[in-house]
Amino acid sequence: MEKILLLHGPNLNMLGKREPAVYGRQTLDDIVAAARALAVELGVEIVSYQSNVEGELVTKIQTAASEFDAIVFNPGAYSHTSIALHDAVLAAGLPVVEVHVSNVHKREEFRHHSFLSAVVEGQVVGFGAESYLLGLRATVSILRSRRPVPPRARPARKRSTR
Ligand code: DQA
Repeated sequence: MEKILLLHGPNLNMLGKREPAVYGRQTLDDIVAAARALAVELGVEIVSYQSNVEGELVTKIQTAASEFDAIVFNPGAYSHTSIALHDAVLAAGLPVVEVHVSNVHKREEFRHHSFLSAVVEGQVVGFGAESYLLGLRATVSILRSRRPVPPRARPARKRSTR
């Protein structure tokens, strides 16, 4: 079963309380619960980790390669500032899908550029909490389209009785 890290950067622990007009009323726990339900449906395992500290996110990405198949990552404001996270994603060599709750392109200009965008598989932005679920679906589809189904997982062919 594929194992996917849901990684959240700074201030995302404040979802639900923080600028609800921009980010909605769902808490990070609500979002992770919805992602867990979807993970069951998709047949994947997810682990969630949030940090407000850039270096902790770098370390988590570095160590993820030995435990996870992919990362769904909302880097928060570090998207717009962090070359360290860009480098960590490159070094980890795992597929990463970047997600943002808000549509960063409709907002202040400083949010239009992401240092992650050039090193991730793709981005999902602007769908509220749903961005995480769409990001999770995209991640699973990336993993499954790349990985051939091992022969033993295929149903055995029925032998002809004729
Ligand atoms: C965010 C967008 C960032 O610009 C902002 O700094 C955040 C949240 C989002 O999910 O919409 O903290 O990543």
